[in-house]
Amino acid sequence: MNVVELIRRKRDGGTLAPDEIGALLRAYTDGTLPDYQAAALLMAVCLRGLDARELSAWTDVMLHSGDVLDLSELPGVKVDKHSTGGVGDMISLPLAPLVAACGVVVPMVSGRGLGHTGGTLDKLEAIPGFRVDRSVEEFRAQLRQLGCCLIGQTERLAPADRKLYALRDVTGTVESIPLIASSIMSKKLAEGIDALVLDVKVGSGAFMKSLDDAQRLARTLVGIGRSAGKRVTAFLTDMDQPLGRRVGNSLEVLEAILTLTGMGSPDVRELVLALGTEMLLLAGVATEPTAARQQLVGAIDSGQALAKFAAVVEAQGGDPRAILEQRLPEVRTASVVTAGRAGAVIAIDAQEIGLASLALGAGRLRKEDAIDPAVGIELLRKVGESVGRSEPIASLHHRDGRGLDEARRRVERAYRIGEEAPPRRPLVIEVMR
Ligand code: URA
Repeated sequence: MNVVELIRRKRDGGTLAPDEIGALLRAYTDGTLPDYQAAALLMAVCLRGLDARELSAWTDVMLHSGDVLDLSELPGVKVDKHSTGGVGDMISLPLAPLVAACGVVVPMVSGRGLGHTGGTLDKLEAIPGFRVDRSVEEFRAQLRQLGCCLIGQTERLAPADRKLYALRDVTGTVESIPLIASSIMSKKLAEGIDALVLDVKVGSGAFMKSLDDAQRLARTLVGIGRSAGKRVTAFLTDMDQPLGRRVGNSLEVLEAILTLTGMGSPDVRELVLALGTEMLLLAGVATEPTAARQQLVGAIDSGQALAKFAAVVEAQGGDPRAILEQRLPEVRTASVVTAGRAGAVIAIDAQEIGLASLALGAGRLRKEDAIDPAVGIELLRKVGESVGRSEPIASLHHRDGRGLDEARRRVERAYRIGEEAPPRRPLVIEVMR
């Protein structure tokens, strides 16, 4: 294979044959194609796209780069949820144990932080001791025992995505419909699900900034899932401001815990209940939305959902007191950003908040960067809320001032304060079934 010639062809708008895609991706996964050539290929795909045949081949090679699990020995419909990525989007953390507490089996293979967005695996690893690198056998055993297991790609589950994902994160090649779609669906189809709920984010903090692009991504994801014989629902949801009030790994675990105690942010609760309702319906555990929602609220109010989260954490090596007593890593140093004028918050640019959190050390700029689980941002005011001049609007949790100046500049830039609160935007914009 002449790799340079294939990269050039893609760069110039040509198409790659399925066997060429297979050879390139297999070579990258087994280490014979170097990072620099894979990065050039990704950039070419990012700029030129993939046609339907190329996308199908790309997804198929990623999916079969490891095992494809068969969980049919477990009773019931296996349902998962995946987000295309947002800021403050820790929804998987409360949602998976909540839905499992209602009797659904939730096998979940997640990713790490990507670009300005956080990743489920990095958030889970903020819980002291938590291990996301379970073997396939451990994954199965925990699903049988607890109905929920949260892991990352391994050598045996979608390893091609694990490698490509890490490379995309640091090479500006995230924002691509075919790359996002193949990344998500290869992980999801490998984990042995019957049905999937997708949360396709749209807005300043999403990879898809426009509704049109988000709809195209949703249709692509649903199409891949359906062709594989899965039942898939896509929600298009607002990511124009961060979700919840906390951004950063440990802070988002806290937001998840609060959601499962009924004391979380209203937007997080609303989204958890909306996605959870669909998961219960797809699983056949409930037959209509009101009953599904009541079941979810019941599991939160009774403490069963929080107990399930603690049990999952313990089974994966984590300290359950992190969940039950909120013992999470924290920094002792916080610095507030204040409002330049009195008024109402009109907008909070979610991407700027994500980049501010990254500057504090909550994400990676290079593949080998270590994440600081304790740093991040608390949003003391959200869109629609009023604020007085010089009152705090955000609190920056930093470690010894690292990245603080940049984070402050970005948070100041992110907030727009004006005379009047804007009309409330719907959180769920559209549902595609
Ligand atoms: N989530 C994923 O798993 N992959 C992407 O490319 C984007 C979001």
